[in-house]
Amino acid sequence: MSIRTPESTAHVSYPPPKEFSASAHIKSLDEYRRLYDRSIKDPEGFWGEVATDCHFFKKWDRVVKWNLPDAQWFVGGQTNISYNCLDLQIERGRGDHTAILWEGEPCDDRGEPREIRRISYRELHREVCRFANGLTALGVRKGDRVTLYMPMVPELAIAMLACARIGAPHSVIFGGFSSQAILDRVQDAESHYIVTADGGWRRGSIVPLKANVDEACNMTDLVKKVVVLRRCENEVTMKDGRDVWWHDAVKGASDQCPAEPLDAEHMLFLLYTSGSTGKPKGILHTTAGYMVYTMYTAKLIFDLKPDDVYWCTADIGWITGHSYIVYGPLQNGVTTVMYEGAPNHPAWDRFWAMIARHKVTKFYTAPTAIRAFMKQGTEWPARHDLSSLKLLGTVGEPINPAAWEWYHHNIGHEKCPIVDTWWQTETGGALITPLPGATPTKPGSATLPFFGIDPAIVTKDGGEQKGAASGLLVIRKPWPGMLRGIYGDPERFRKQYWSEMPGVYFTGDGARRDEDGYYWITGRVDDVIKVAGHRLGTAEVESALVSNPKVAEAAVVGFPDDLTGEAIAAFVTLKGGVKPDESIKDELKKHVSSHLGAIARPKDIRFTDALPKTRSGKIMRRLLRELATKGRVEGDTTTLEDFTTIAKLRDDDA
Ligand code: WT7
Repeated sequence: MSIRTPESTAHVSYPPPKEFSASAHIKSLDEYRRLYDRSIKDPEGFWGEVATDCHFFKKWDRVVKWNLPDAQWFVGGQTNISYNCLDLQIERGRGDHTAILWEGEPCDDRGEPREIRRISYRELHREVCRFANGLTALGVRKGDRVTLYMPMVPELAIAMLACARIGAPHSVIFGGFSSQAILDRVQDAESHYIVTADGGWRRGSIVPLKANVDEACNMTDLVKKVVVLRRCENEVTMKDGRDVWWHDAVKGASDQCPAEPLDAEHMLFLLYTSGSTGKPKGILHTTAGYMVYTMYTAKLIFDLKPDDVYWCTADIGWITGHSYIVYGPLQNGVTTVMYEGAPNHPAWDRFWAMIARHKVTKFYTAPTAIRAFMKQGTEWPARHDLSSLKLLGTVGEPINPAAWEWYHHNIGHEKCPIVDTWWQTETGGALITPLPGATPTKPGSATLPFFGIDPAIVTKDGGEQKGAASGLLVIRKPWPGMLRGIYGDPERFRKQYWSEMPGVYFTGDGARRDEDGYYWITGRVDDVIKVAGHRLGTAEVESALVSNPKVAEAAVVGFPDDLTGEAIAAFVTLKGGVKPDESIKDELKKHVSSHLGAIARPKDIRFTDALPKTRSGKIMRRLLRELATKGRVEGDTTTLEDFTTIAKLRDDDA
């Protein structure tokens, strides 16, 4: 299986199915192009009109103010995204409709799920209000950052919507992260409040979430209150005065809590992600622009209709879950499916069984998952009735054409358009994506820009490439869902995104544009690795490695992997006197997992006497990448400080 996109497939094109187009929000490529032109020529008019579908307590004075790199959207307006997800839907008559359809992981011995919950918009509204009142009673105020470290249960969405309701920005931490990651994020966000659970189910075992929080709290005295949801009934220690059970926090709380009118640019949430340095950055999103952008992209890209049962399999700990499990779908009044556990528990057909059980109509997942299913064989999906499906989506990493075709044939049964959506934590919502009723798709291409998005391909010196070309992907105009900063670090924000090419947003991705104007994302051009769609900074993994007392120096690179897209290779220099052997490799892999979580575990560790560096001391990652990929080095090595290193690495491998 090859992950790279063979040029030869670039001409393969699938028109949107006719029946789909006939009832779609956007019905043809012509209609797309007309609207697109307008959105680029008159962004204020365009977005001003889109935003009239949302509820504002006070209308904006201006649609956008752009003072590079600072954008403000719907300036002067006041709104609340929790109101738009709940109250507005109830006003529209959706109160009794299922908002969240949740399935827990544990199954009985016949493989049937033990727990399914259907929560209507009205019930969700009530629970959100109660929890918002509970948070307020614990001392949480508008502007306070609340850390959410939870399993994939409805209470996570409830907590987010409760925070949004009172104007307390949330900072969700993926439940697979370790206590060190919690500590770093709590400290960076100066967050005094954490919401967690006793544990969460994953592949039949309990992830000890509360114990991880305790460990993090032992290393800081920032945390004043920890709210603990009872989920797995595993034993936990509750600290007097600090820890409160969720059910006690909401006991007697009123189910009325009017949504706070918030300034359009009020901070809605922080979400930490990896960059090119060792320190994760708190990506800052604000209220109105993010709200309008997620509402509209979810509606058009997934072609949402009132009866849709829409399922995005991401974890809410990532931006995909924020935008396209919680905020986007709920603003469209549809049923959003949430699943707690692993795709292969109790067996490799869990997803397909769930699609059949709940008659899922729109399904959005990651290329790595598709490749994993592909490996297990077509008999797993073939056992289930997937005829409810109308649309498929992918996100997180480039999808190789072979996996695209497999998805198209075995899951979509050739009748579902596939939307390959390119975007980032920073972008808030999808920027380059097909519109399912309008855009002919090409396997492996994210196709064309969404409305208002003005991408360009530039050379390293910033020179714009016209027509069919390859280079760095930049975005030239602000869009409503864009990040507003890196929390507490305006300088890094400017440097990271706005200085590489003056005046434009630098994505960090490379891309090719073909003769039809279609974009093919080729992957990161910075020191970020995408492992199974998860984003990891090489520097983060390196600093985890050198925190082990046996390690003197480490360099980490990505290399292609048939399943996870990329995998991590670590080149490690041990301290004097430490003898390299297999057991140290295992120890180091475990060490990284416990510091950063299992997704950061290196697949390959190689020992070396010294790392190859340029004369100025920069690690020559290109060489290491080549070595990790091909096992040998062919490039120019004349700027190496230590030629013997490369020779040694090469020998070791031969
Ligand atoms: C990076 C952003 C978008 C939410 C999940 C990931 C890669 C994302 C695609 C796609 C090719 C993709 C890019 C991007 N990426 N979607 N459809 N095709 N590459 O968010 O963790 O912020 O990662 O994911 O490299 O820069 P993220």
